Amino acid sequence: MARRLILVSNRVAVPDTEGSRTAGGLTVAIHAAQKLRDNVWFGWSGDVCESETPPPPTVIARGRRSFILQDLPATDYQEYYNGFANRVLWPIFHYRVDLAEFNTVELGGYLRVNRLFANALSSVVQPDDVVWVHDYHLVTFARELRALGVDLPMGFFLHIPCPPPDILLAMPQHAETLGALMQYDLVGLQTERDAANLGNYFEQSLGAVGRGNGVFERDGRRVQLRAFPVGIATNVYARAARCAARTQSVADLRDSLGDKQLILGVDRLDYTKGIPQRIQAFGHFLDRYPEWHEKVTLLQVTPKSRTEVREYAELEHEVSALVGTINGAHAAPAWTPIRYLNRSFSRGILAGMYRAAHVGLVTPLRDGMNLVAKEYVAAQDPDDPGVLILSQFAGASEGMQGALIVNPHEPDAVSDAIRTALDMKLAERQARWRPMFAYLQENDIDRWAEDFLGALMGTRQSGGFREGIWRLFSGGAAAAFMAQVFANR
Ligand code: F6P
Repeated sequence: MARRLILVSNRVAVPDTEGSRTAGGLTVAIHAAQKLRDNVWFGWSGDVCESETPPPPTVIARGRRSFILQDLPATDYQEYYNGFANRVLWPIFHYRVDLAEFNTVELGGYLRVNRLFANALSSVVQPDDVVWVHDYHLVTFARELRALGVDLPMGFFLHIPCPPPDILLAMPQHAETLGALMQYDLVGLQTERDAANLGNYFEQSLGAVGRGNGVFERDGRRVQLRAFPVGIATNVYARAARCAARTQSVADLRDSLGDKQLILGVDRLDYTKGIPQRIQAFGHFLDRYPEWHEKVTLLQVTPKSRTEVREYAELEHEVSALVGTINGAHAAPAWTPIRYLNRSFSRGILAGMYRAAHVGLVTPLRDGMNLVAKEYVAAQDPDDPGVLILSQFAGASEGMQGALIVNPHEPDAVSDAIRTALDMKLAERQARWRPMFAYLQENDIDRWAEDFLGALMGTRQSGGFREGIWRLFSGGAAAAFMAQVFANR
């Protein structure tokens, strides 16, 4: 009997009865993992309950997939989600020590919710299951589950960046929190740089001993660290973009632009995304290159997020004010340089917008991967592709050399890249786009899920023939091949 896959993440996307689903980056990633085996997806329901005692979780069955959803008491939600996860771990992992607001009460809430989740899941897991935990909300989860006597293979994937040890050390009680990562068998990170940073932290600050091949040992436990850059469902996305390009909303967008070129930015409203810096760089471009006035429009799509955290509310005011200032200075009666939208769009419509855009402007100050960059490339028309401008600080820059790579802190460089992109001839656009698209096809989200799961199975010493083979072949293309051989699809 095949092992079940137990997926754990803060948010859970339950498909509605028609089978549609909300599909952010993490959801697309987990969806790929769900295809590999029978599975359970466990996490927060998104609801906050009145009582201080959390109710038993809700179970929803959908064929070979089931979903287990846990409500959180208001205090837990505040301390765990708005508190330690998003006011300490999020800024620190994005190199923003200056924004971290540490307090022990919120750390307590974070540890408590990880324990609550582990307790709820301990009665669900079966002896042959494999557990795959996602993201910074659940760093201490494996420690809690192991404390309950669960000895299953457990993997963790960090969707956000990992900074060097000096930055991690700024977090009071870092060892109590991050040391819990040693309880996983495999920790996956987005890039080689992230994996090296965490390995250095393990050695320098936790006293773990490197055993080679990304394996670290402490107190008799071994954990392997490895980079698994998250991809997208490249061919599915390219098809969606082709279809979306024929929809009314995309036709309306094109009509509204006339012969103006479109630059597109799509980001959650988050200080890591570099939105004010991008708007300023676009203003700088308009100052330096007046010949582009009335010939180009920046469409910035920015759904609000985490509005209860102070920095996010402040950012909302800052960006609105900047957009107003630049539009006020440059607009003409028939031209608004920046269109700023605080709302989200379906993935289909977004794919159509990407395809309609001459330039994808993706300039985060720090980002684990940035799937907008990958989706923008996948959505392009091969006969007339647009140009990607990409921050050197996005994980995606490691595999996307065809982009114009910029330092988002340098307005001159970003505004020059905008001009280069707008002027770029078809032959160069195609020459840049083709290898990026091939890379995305080769390294898509299915391969990512197979690679991770293959490597996780390979970390276990005693598990019979299948694990032995996984171990033998763990790593890169061989792991992907063996994953395909063994995965129950
Ligand atoms: O990895 C970053 C992440 O947690 C993603 O899972 C998700 O797309 C995004 O942040 C949304 O954050 P939140 O769940 O706080 O709205």
